[in-house]
Amino acid sequence: MRKGTTFTRFIIEEQRRIPESTGEFTLLLSSIVTACKEISDDVNRGQLINVLGSADTENVQGETQKKLDIISNEIMIRAMEWSGNLAGMASEEMETMYSIPSRFPKGKYLLVFDPLDGSSNTEVNVSIGTIFSILRCPDGITDPKEEDFYQAGTQQVCAGYVLYGPATNLVLTTGQGVNGFTLDQDIGEFILTHPKLTIPERTSEFAINMSNQRHWEPAIKRYIDEVVAGEDGVRGRNFNTRWVASMVAEVHRILMRGGIFLYPRDNRDNVTKGRLRLLYEANPMSFIIEQAGGSASTGRERILSVQPEHLHQRIPVVIGAKEEVERVHRYHIEMDKELNGSPPHRQAN
Ligand code: F6P
Repeated sequence: MRKGTTFTRFIIEEQRRIPESTGEFTLLLSSIVTACKEISDDVNRGQLINVLGSADTENVQGETQKKLDIISNEIMIRAMEWSGNLAGMASEEMETMYSIPSRFPKGKYLLVFDPLDGSSNTEVNVSIGTIFSILRCPDGITDPKEEDFYQAGTQQVCAGYVLYGPATNLVLTTGQGVNGFTLDQDIGEFILTHPKLTIPERTSEFAINMSNQRHWEPAIKRYIDEVVAGEDGVRGRNFNTRWVASMVAEVHRILMRGGIFLYPRDNRDNVTKGRLRLLYEANPMSFIIEQAGGSASTGRERILSVQPEHLHQRIPVVIGAKEEVERVHRYHIEMDKELNGSPPHRQAN
């Protein structure tokens, strides 16, 4: 007999701890996980079932969509719309929010998701994933508008991702710590393999797309110059680097062994406000990282406190080991003071 707590058992036991629970949330999570198993299967068999490559369409952010982006989005919508737990959905791949069709009952939650993050990696068989965030539909609202999704990350009821890598992992938080599961392909169930995940405060591993270096603000240049200088510089120790170009994989690595991930704002036209999306990338990942003992910042403020202003809002992301994120934050404060003419806080290096 196999050992281990199944995801189904895990969420039902969690539900039992909350006496007033109706089971709605448990069913919602269960439907999300079923959808992700289907996406996992398509990703896994991609080449064989001819779902790789470009769809020759663009999403709302002007990015070329992959066939698998569209298929994954469709899987999520079809798996979730009938469930009766949701009042609305929003996705990276849809310009406007998705209203639950009138033939289905509505529920008290809102779901935001990136159906296939890092999808530029599909053809090269590198890890990608689905990211999701569950919000409460504001009281008294049964027909939500887009504004009802504009809730700060602190309001999230649950955040999670499913990583489609050598193994398929589900990582989840409801604000009571972070738990990780691995899909047992033979029985089609996620098994609790990484209970109570925590990340070390200190790290010697960083992830950033170095090809953007010339566009960065001075605070990021300073931080990266220092870690690259290693034991010959002010940090006095060597750092290693990684870049997968798939945020799910980067965050997963940080949860497994520590690290810091940065996608800062820079001076390119489309990145002045950051590259990653607040509602369905930065917020869920920040919730998970904070719950695991890490930090998540724009460089200037806590990501989870940012008030969203639209569905596809972009935001700078500095996420991971507390000590490093706090250092990057300090460098931004010092840079802003210098640029605003206040006395420099530090000696120039
Ligand atoms: O859209 C998100 C994303 O694919 C992330 O998963 C990843 O971290 C980032 O974009 C990669 O960006 P770039 O192609 O600029 O390295």
